Amino acid sequence: MIIKDIVYKYGNKRENLIQILHEIQDADPQNYISKENLIRLSEIMNIPVSDITSTASFYTMFSFQPRGKYIIRVCGSPPCHIMGAETIFEVISKELKIAKGETTSDGLFTLEETSCLGVCAVAPAIMINDTVYGYLTVERVKEILAQIRKKEGK
Ligand code: FES
Repeated sequence: MIIKDIVYKYGNKRENLIQILHEIQDADPQNYISKENLIRLSEIMNIPVSDITSTASFYTMFSFQPRGKYIIRVCGSPPCHIMGAETIFEVISKELKIAKGETTSDGLFTLEETSCLGVCAVAPAIMINDTVYGYLTVERVKEILAQIRKKEGK
């Protein structure tokens, strides 16, 4: 979907900027907001690039760097931390051979840490793109990663 269509879909109003940025990011195979798209959006919405950037920078879900097809967000807030989030993070990091903020060389996964996902009752929890996984164990996490790799033929 091109930028103009996304803006048209939500309406060319500043209050729709976050939704528009979300869709632009989601539409990019590398899960980010490219400089070209940022400039195009600025022209269409008549909002300076610096304004868009500072608005988007406030939210951790937006990225201006290319990322993996699957963004893994491990909750690091206290309830998940107490329930073993650190171990979950380490297992994912070891399995994928990447550290926080890095992307696997095949472009499949990016590993990030996030604050509370709002599902503390099922801690420890992670979110992969739009899907939340709770009650995680080391085995379950490995299984989830294997399922994604299988689906992607990797
Ligand atoms: S603390 Fe992890 S989901 Fe709330």
